[in-house]
Amino acid sequence: MQRRVTGTAIEMLGCGTLAGPRLTKLLLSSFKKSISQQFSVNFGVNQRFRTTSSIQGYYELARERSKAVASFYNQSAIDASAEKASVRLTPATMLYAGKSADGHHILSSAKYLQKELPVRIAHRIKGFRSLPFIIGCNPTILQVHELYIRAYHMLSDFPPIKDRETEAQYSKLVQQLLDDHKDVVTMLAQGLRESRKHIQDETVIRNFLDTTLTSRLGIRMLATHHLSLHEENPDYVGIICRRLSPKKIIEKWVVFARRLCEHQYGNSPLVRINGHVAARFPFIPMPLDYILPELLKNAMRATMESHLETPYNVPDVVVTIANNDTDFVVRISDRGGGIPHRILDKVMDYHFSTAEESTQDPRVSNLFDTMTNSGPQSGPMHGFGFGLPTSRAYAEYLGGSLTIQSMQGIGTDVYLRLRHIDGKGESFRI
Ligand SMILES: Nc1ncnc2c1ncn2[C@@H]1O[C@H](COP(=O)(O)OP(=O)(O)OP(=O)(O)O)[C@@H](O)[C@H]1O
Ligand SMILES: [Mg+2]
Repeated sequence: MQRRVTGTAIEMLGCGTLAGPRLTKLLLSSFKKSISQQFSVNFGVNQRFRTTSSIQGYYELARERSKAVASFYNQSAIDASAEKASVRLTPATMLYAGKSADGHHILSSAKYLQKELPVRIAHRIKGFRSLPFIIGCNPTILQVHELYIRAYHMLSDFPPIKDRETEAQYSKLVQQLLDDHKDVVTMLAQGLRESRKHIQDETVIRNFLDTTLTSRLGIRMLATHHLSLHEENPDYVGIICRRLSPKKIIEKWVVFARRLCEHQYGNSPLVRINGHVAARFPFIPMPLDYILPELLKNAMRATMESHLETPYNVPDVVVTIANNDTDFVVRISDRGGGIPHRILDKVMDYHFSTAEESTQDPRVSNLFDTMTNSGPQSGPMHGFGFGLPTSRAYAEYLGGSLTIQSMQGIGTDVYLRLRHIDGKGESFRI
């Protein structure tokens, strides 16, 4: 069964470059050369003759896959859009522009999206085209790349929005694209896990994922904001909650993470929330809806796996909220043994996970088998090694940070810091 990146409550539309046909041809010829070299190293000169058809097959396959995508590339419209700068909004602007008696704010919001979305999507298509060829050829990566190209054309071909009727049609299209793109993070995680072994340079992957995932978050926030403007909810303006209670949203994700944890380990740690528990301020729940479950799952997993002999007597996880006039901080402290020195500088890498290691521990895998009836590596508590790096990228995109303090032998403190949208300091832009 295909595993999804966990916590995909807010899976988002994404971003990217691919070359024109001439460059594609050039890349293909160098790809063909490198494949031939690979085969000659592996099989030796004599056997190389026998593998000609497989080289040819692989080459043909790569060419076919590229053709499908390349057929779209000739469209200079994408290149022209990719040259344009994106117009990022502050949440304060979205808040103040988000209400009007006659509903003209909905029309203005749709007109802004109609201009903005193709530009942002064209940037992402450029990102895909800039990927090393061997990665760009991965079928799953190509599939995502095609999704973006398709989205670009559907959005750019839409007639100008003039009235409520065209706006309603446009909103329908936006909703459909949000649905079509909901599995993009999982697909990218999967495609890159297969193909990244060919790439020595870790920063290529990191930069691509940081940019693609945060841009996708931005696009999805804007799109969802527009769709939510149609709903009447006194506590919200679009996606902005006027009086968000950090305690309430933490509690929601504690229930979720404990349920998963119980399913997987038979028990789960209690979670105590302290600090500024009464704080309320305007904020966007969406990024918290991704980050909080990831951090809580990590803390609970570490707690359970460091107490395998006493699963019904495990230390609590403590969440502390600190609010001030510039930002707010959520600290998640567990007593799960800490992050070993040897892996501390890797835990923020995409695809770094100790999931496989722990499922090889017979005590954990026995639990897995009885609790989930699933094979090794699979499980909703951990998986692709995307939880921490994605959460940090989202926090930084929103002008905040995610830092880790590990007390090896005792436990881990994770600090999530996010800027207020109406605070003293400069706000972030979406
Ligand atoms: N609170 C923690 N205590 C101890 N180790 C941790 C903690 N949080 C993360 N880690 C370590 O960091 C690794 C990477 O964490 P990350 O959340 O990025 O990936 P994952 O949990 O393995 O998979 P995913 O989050 O994609 O489901 C984990 O596999 C684990 O070894
Ligand atoms: Mg995780």
